[in-house]
Amino acid sequence: MGNSLWYKNAVFYEVYVRGFKDSSNDGNGDLIGLIEKIDYLQELGIDCLWLLPIYPSPLIDDGYDISDYCSILPDYGTLEDFKALLDAAHKRGMRVITDLVLNHTSDQHPWFQAARVNRNSPYRDFYVWSDTDQKYQDARIIFLDTEKSNWTWDEAAGQYFWHRFYSSQPDLNYDNPAVQNEMLSVIEFWLELGIDGFRVDAVPYLYQREGTNCENLPETHAFLKRIRRFIDDNYSDRVLLCEANQWPQDVRSYFGDGDEFHMGFNFPVMPRIYMALRKGERAPLVDILEQIPDIPPDSQWCTFLRNHDELTLEMVTEEEREWMWQEYGPEPRMRQNLGIRRRLAPLLGNNKRKIELAYSLLFSLPGSPVIYYGDEIGMGDNIWLADRNGLRTPMQWDAGPNAGFSRAIAEKLYAPLVSSQEFGLNQVNVAAQRRDINSLWHRIRNMIRLHKENHVFGWGEFRWQDAGNDAIAAYWRTLSERSLLIINNLSPDSQNIRLRMPEACASEPVDLLSGRKMGKFEEGDLVLKLQPFQFLWLNILKI
Ligand code: NOJ
Repeated sequence: MGNSLWYKNAVFYEVYVRGFKDSSNDGNGDLIGLIEKIDYLQELGIDCLWLLPIYPSPLIDDGYDISDYCSILPDYGTLEDFKALLDAAHKRGMRVITDLVLNHTSDQHPWFQAARVNRNSPYRDFYVWSDTDQKYQDARIIFLDTEKSNWTWDEAAGQYFWHRFYSSQPDLNYDNPAVQNEMLSVIEFWLELGIDGFRVDAVPYLYQREGTNCENLPETHAFLKRIRRFIDDNYSDRVLLCEANQWPQDVRSYFGDGDEFHMGFNFPVMPRIYMALRKGERAPLVDILEQIPDIPPDSQWCTFLRNHDELTLEMVTEEEREWMWQEYGPEPRMRQNLGIRRRLAPLLGNNKRKIELAYSLLFSLPGSPVIYYGDEIGMGDNIWLADRNGLRTPMQWDAGPNAGFSRAIAEKLYAPLVSSQEFGLNQVNVAAQRRDINSLWHRIRNMIRLHKENHVFGWGEFRWQDAGNDAIAAYWRTLSERSLLIINNLSPDSQNIRLRMPEACASEPVDLLSGRKMGKFEEGDLVLKLQPFQFLWLNILKI
């Protein structure tokens, strides 16, 4: 497709293949099902699909525990199906990236199986072993609800092995050059098939060093740069997206000097969007955006509201975490590890205006937005399912049997459909929202279109505009002559505002979202009345 910076201005969609569409009627979504629905994604305006893990796995961590890196989980289909998906996407000008899980394998992976039973196996040194469980004590435990230590004793091996996630996910040993080479072969395998890049899982933890917290180590960056070099030397137009749930300076380091990741999730901004929405104040956003460092010009942030994991509260202070739990996760079942396992719509009280406002922030703050499947229609969750499964229920396509997800009998579905009064298939489904031009789906589709048409969003500068009112998050997005003024009323009350315009403006502002003229200039100030949770994307010509 010949545009190496395509990701700067792209809209991403995170797909859980198992939950999207079942073509074989076995109760599990699959790749052919995804192909059947690809026109839907094109209609929504999606540029790039990010597929959650699709590889063979015992599924203790829903596929993030890989037992074979170079084939497809039989539930999902075959490599041929995967190639057909790539073709279908590419034909429509869409791209596909997949998860690359570098840090660990499943304990069912043949490498680990060989390693544990034989100290002399060449695979022994693929993992991190120790006679004691006292090494690297400064490394935190991530899956706090289930894991007591990052070391687990393996009877067959007669040693402890190191793992940052579930004890069924032994960490690979990147000090071993053979591990590095194996993973480069995996990368090559998928790039040769034609994928457009990777969302790289859990990158901060690749190395361990005594006396450190074993995160973001220089050795980790060196290996990631090696991956980037390999890709740059051999392929074009591919993207590496970094999952590093870290504070701003540490996330920044993964962009390197433009020689590491092309993109990185903006983890620090995400929870502050929820804080700002709940408090009805822009302060949490102002605070965090001030701390977000500049990134190299060819790099890009990925902004997101929700994903397949709990809403992580790792990158907030303890006090902020308590507050978020109280406000957004009042029931114990809603909490998981250091986060909240709920979807966007339930988090925002299923208040359509508020959900749209959250999307206004998502699509207008710096970065390329990622939409989590089902959140474009405001799907609900099921906190009674184990782990994060309650966020991964079947996509609700229509009000028919199994919400149009599968023709299997309901008992065979991999997970029950959300069945609450508020979020059940009659209340929330794609077909109904497509018919209703005022639906969330249509609003989001409009925002996607505008985000892509107006390159200021992907490429432009960001600058706050003082609104003399704490409830208003107003900012400029500018690119050479083009200026958009984004105004979000974060509060549940209407607001009269007066924005001081330092530069003279030539024309009446037009709201891109509605096509309507909005507000008026009085003595150079822009005067406006905003409804509760209202937002405007104003096109303003400056003199
Ligand atoms: C981050 C993924 O998003 C999460 O789902 C997974 O459990 C961990 N990495 C471990 O791979």
